[in-house]
Amino acid sequence: MATRCLCFATLMLTASILVLGISAQIECGGNLIAIGKQCISFVQKEGPKVPPSKSCCEALQGANVSCYCKYVTPVIESKFSIEKALYVAKTCQAQNIPTDKCGSYTIPHPPSSKA
Ligand SMILES: *[C@@H]1O[C@H](CO)[C@@H](O)[C@H](O)[C@H]1NC(C)=O
Repeated sequence: MATRCLCFATLMLTASILVLGISAQIECGGNLIAIGKQCISFVQKEGPKVPPSKSCCEALQGANVSCYCKYVTPVIESKFSIEKALYVAKTCQAQNIPTDKCGSYTIPHPPSSKA
């Protein structure tokens, strides 16, 4: 029954992300269902960094990125690329993009030119 167990685990994971997501949306704005649907393909760990689509950007309108970052846990980090997510947020000109940390993810800084 290995398949059934795996299926159950996936279901639990999806459910917990959903519950987390709903509380995040109330607090942080944006349209999380649309973000999930339209933006998921741009934040996968696998594959190259691709510019987000117009519909993904539209879903991100009004979302407070710093606020969503509070919900980034190592589990989320292991599933999605936070680096790509921040790139998507920047490309879409989302609000309040953090510059040093996003949840458990530390944003790498390019070498500073001054000092
Ligand atoms: C965004 O979220 C952060 C953290 O929750 C909060 O401090 C800030 O006031 C929010 N900004 C806007 C524009 O909603």
